[in-house]
Amino acid sequence: MNESEQTLSIIKPDAVERNLQDEIKNEFNKNGFVISKEKKIHISKQEAEQFYKVHETKPFYNDLCEYLSSGPIIVMSLQKKNAVLDNRKLMGATNPKEAEKGTLREKYGISIDKNSVHGSDSIENAKIEIDFFFKD
Ligand code: CMP
Repeated sequence: MNESEQTLSIIKPDAVERNLQDEIKNEFNKNGFVISKEKKIHISKQEAEQFYKVHETKPFYNDLCEYLSSGPIIVMSLQKKNAVLDNRKLMGATNPKEAEKGTLREKYGISIDKNSVHGSDSIENAKIEIDFFFKD
């Protein structure tokens, strides 16, 4: 039962804009993640709407999609044992104000929208999200 797992990580526009990608990637490496796939892209609002479709009924959906498509992002597939859960622990709470000290969102996040990183919330969604960006 020592199988490694994959999870999708996004370094969001606010972090790329502040040139934090190397610092954040270094945090992943330090915490035992292998970045097995990576690309820098600038997605359209329609692509953001597809990616965040699970949130389409939420009041913040439109702003969220505007935001994710507002500038370049880094999408990565992160690999390690328990990658999904460990990445969520490393990221901290969605709202940087509530994120535990030392977590990525506590260190780099600006607000609940500009929270610097996204990570898959389950193994099932990780597969869907990795396919979304890396299936050719
Ligand atoms: P993320 O993990 O990328 O998934 C959905 C995003 O919606 C979340 O991070 C936040 O940046 C954003 N968001 C904005 N408002 C809220 C809210 N009230 N609750 C949860 N997520 C929110």
